[in-house]
Amino acid sequence: MSDSAAPYALDLAAFPADFTWGTATSAYQIEGAVAEDGRAPSIWDTFSHTPGRVDNDDHGDVACDHYHRWPEDIALMRELGTDGYRMSVAWPRVLPGGDGPVNAAGLDFYDRLVDGLLAAGITPSVTLYHWDLPQALQDRGGWTERDTAEHLAAYASVVAGRLGDRVTRWATLNEPLCSGWIGHLEGRMAPGLTDLTAAVRASYHLLLAHGLAVQAVRAAAPGAQVGLVTNHSTVEPATARPEDAAAAARLDGHTNRWWLDPVYGRGFPADMRELYGVELPERPGDLEVMASPTDWHGLNYYFPSVVVDDPEGPVPHAREIKVPGVPRSGMDWPVDAAGLEGMLMRLTDDYGVRRIYVTENGSAYPDTVAPDGTVHDPERTRYLEDHLAACARALRKGAPLAGYYAWSLLDNFEWAYGYDKRFGLVHVDYATQKRTMKSSGRRYAEIIRAHRDSV
Ligand code: NOJ
Repeated sequence: MSDSAAPYALDLAAFPADFTWGTATSAYQIEGAVAEDGRAPSIWDTFSHTPGRVDNDDHGDVACDHYHRWPEDIALMRELGTDGYRMSVAWPRVLPGGDGPVNAAGLDFYDRLVDGLLAAGITPSVTLYHWDLPQALQDRGGWTERDTAEHLAAYASVVAGRLGDRVTRWATLNEPLCSGWIGHLEGRMAPGLTDLTAAVRASYHLLLAHGLAVQAVRAAAPGAQVGLVTNHSTVEPATARPEDAAAAARLDGHTNRWWLDPVYGRGFPADMRELYGVELPERPGDLEVMASPTDWHGLNYYFPSVVVDDPEGPVPHAREIKVPGVPRSGMDWPVDAAGLEGMLMRLTDDYGVRRIYVTENGSAYPDTVAPDGTVHDPERTRYLEDHLAACARALRKGAPLAGYYAWSLLDNFEWAYGYDKRFGLVHVDYATQKRTMKSSGRRYAEIIRAHRDSV
């Protein structure tokens, strides 16, 4: 059953003929097989096996067992009709020690997966770092140390050297805001630190790693199209009070400008440097590396932020408020597609990005399998439709949007929230590993088909 009973008019003509329709996942969230074929622990194995860190003490040991079930998962992508798939490579499979010897068996897995995708007519987009830092590097300081950035570049070169004859679309990092700030300042993600100095240093080294990896991928795989994936929210003050406007500017700096300004050649924003008050581990030439030219930008968008001043709260002293009348998802995130249009236009108009992919967008709801075996998820369907409509509006206004990857193909390990938060277009019964296409997945397939038929 699909939700197509409700009339839905998407401006399909706004989407270019060669638009990529995709889904996204990441290695630790779906693969499982954490001790197979030479993989070593990552910081997420350590974090999730530390009691109390993850809801229900869930961990990624088995996850969606994608490591063994990937052919079935490619068949699901075909059922959706997608022609793009954003995946990540697990660093601790390829270089279990973080640096040092390459684990051939780890690389072989991705080799088979990429071949399987291509045989199914699906173009892979490979993210090199989706938060699963080898624990061995964390033991040496992790992202607070400059060496880690250099190790990421060396790892990038190994992976691009192996897959670069078939993979052209590469992302260096996923959401450094989360691995940097949430992992080092808020402690809600691995490695679970709550230290502003560590967070600032980590954010700096992540951006340096991005630039070094851009160069490494280009050197190892000529013709590669390289980008960075960042998550953003539009930020608005809740009232006309000047304090709230200042709070909004700070959260905007924290969430958006701190990452985009250095990558697009503007250096680190002065107001945020002053607010953090932490010396950056700068060396001459670093800013040029961070601003290494890229071929595309990946935008992960989930929700907008409306804030008030919160002088006693944590940096950046801005507290999000719930706007009456705005629905909220199962993550308790506000649902408002206008923020996606806003961020697409900001990347276009303010940062001059020439090619954008929405590399993640989606919503979690507590889906259940009905007695007749179907999964009916009208809220997720509505979220998808509204956000695709926002993409269409941005395209009409000139945003160079080249593709959309729905988060996520499958329900999966939602980090500190464990398995209770379900983002998939496909439901996963973790007890049996049975996959069931949700009605939102069927709607996505209809939209993709309608677009193909129209061009
Ligand atoms: C961002 C992350 O990249 C992804 O791993 C996560 O599951 C989704 N957002 C949903 O929170």
